[in-house]
Amino acid sequence: MPKISVKGNSMPESPIRKLVPFAEAAIKKGRKIYQLNIGQPDIKTPKVALDAVRNHTIEVLSYSHSAGFEGYRNKLANYYKNHDIPVNGEEIIITTGGSEALLFAMGSIADTGDEIIIPEPFYANYNGFATASGINIVPVESKIETNFALPPIADFEKLITSKTKAILICNPGNPTGYLYTKEEIDQLAEIAIKHDIFLVADEVYREFAYDGVKHHSVMSIDKLKDHAIMIDSVSKRYSMCGARIGCLVSKNKEVISTAMKFAQARLSPPTFEQIASEAALETPQSYFDDVIEEYTSRRNLLIAGLESIEGVKVATPKGAFYCIAELPIKNADVFAKWLLEEYQLDNETIMVAPAAGFYSTPNTGLNQVRIAYVLKKEDLERAIIILKNALQEYNK
Ligand SMILES: Cc1ncc(COP(=O)(O)O)c(C=O)c1O
Repeated sequence: MPKISVKGNSMPESPIRKLVPFAEAAIKKGRKIYQLNIGQPDIKTPKVALDAVRNHTIEVLSYSHSAGFEGYRNKLANYYKNHDIPVNGEEIIITTGGSEALLFAMGSIADTGDEIIIPEPFYANYNGFATASGINIVPVESKIETNFALPPIADFEKLITSKTKAILICNPGNPTGYLYTKEEIDQLAEIAIKHDIFLVADEVYREFAYDGVKHHSVMSIDKLKDHAIMIDSVSKRYSMCGARIGCLVSKNKEVISTAMKFAQARLSPPTFEQIASEAALETPQSYFDDVIEEYTSRRNLLIAGLESIEGVKVATPKGAFYCIAELPIKNADVFAKWLLEEYQLDNETIMVAPAAGFYSTPNTGLNQVRIAYVLKKEDLERAIIILKNALQEYNK
């Protein structure tokens, strides 16, 4: 039998998707599942984006430029300028989702055995991208008790070695919903410059900032221009996860020319989806106002509901559409499987993402789950009732 690579064997499973076979089996049994595990918004994609594809008359579906359509990049740069991010089209590479931008970023700045420091819990697929790139993630723990605020800067400095190539943050955070303050971003900028390492910011949830709090981009800091790399995506902003369009943005010319080599190797990002993404830039502000209002009320409902369950601890998210909840159980993996395999309330159950996969420190977050509030309010209300009842039955 030919052998699978060590790297292949060490690729982590996605904690968000690994329970899918159990969910499929439950659905086959006729069970209704409220999916709180995955960040697939139920919000409608802007019509302007879908119409652009419907109305396009392409005769040859050809490759585009490896960096993406120039017209799209320039319009995107205008959009960023309106968000205090002064970049031009040449500082943007369009990618197949933010996922590919993360891979290009890692490939461009770190070699096998190099290290990237990431506050944990973090977006679980960072583990997969790091493994695929041969990079070691060095976690620095943020805590539920402090709402997952930036860990003390001294904690980062302790971890910096000659192998450290970058600090990677997700802002607003998936899975924590934490939104970094201007002071926190400034502190990170200082440390990146002092140690001459990159500050990579995954800002795919930029628009999802609640309670009137402003999002602060790493790209807005002028002195960070050689050190900052921004990852972005249309997936969540326009509820266009299936478009698979994202981008890598940097004012550092070497980063862009290196990432371009990765981009050339995969030829180009998808064509129709770039057309849709370019048109999506015409989406009126009222769309975002409505979406933010909807997510704010979902968040309020979810957090109040979770706080009303005995033994549940939750950090209030300020952005994105996830929260981490600590449950009165020992092992969220076992509990999440039990919910799908054994439990039901009037033939309904819930699916949650066990949070341990969002940490890279072993045995951390074992009693936590990530909950995505991407369902409409009636469904979230029902999901909270199910969780409360399930915890009572589980702990009987
Ligand atoms: C924090 C974060 N970064 C990146 C991605 C990747 O997004 P995509 O590849 O769909 O653009 C996701 C998707 O859920 C995410 O949550």
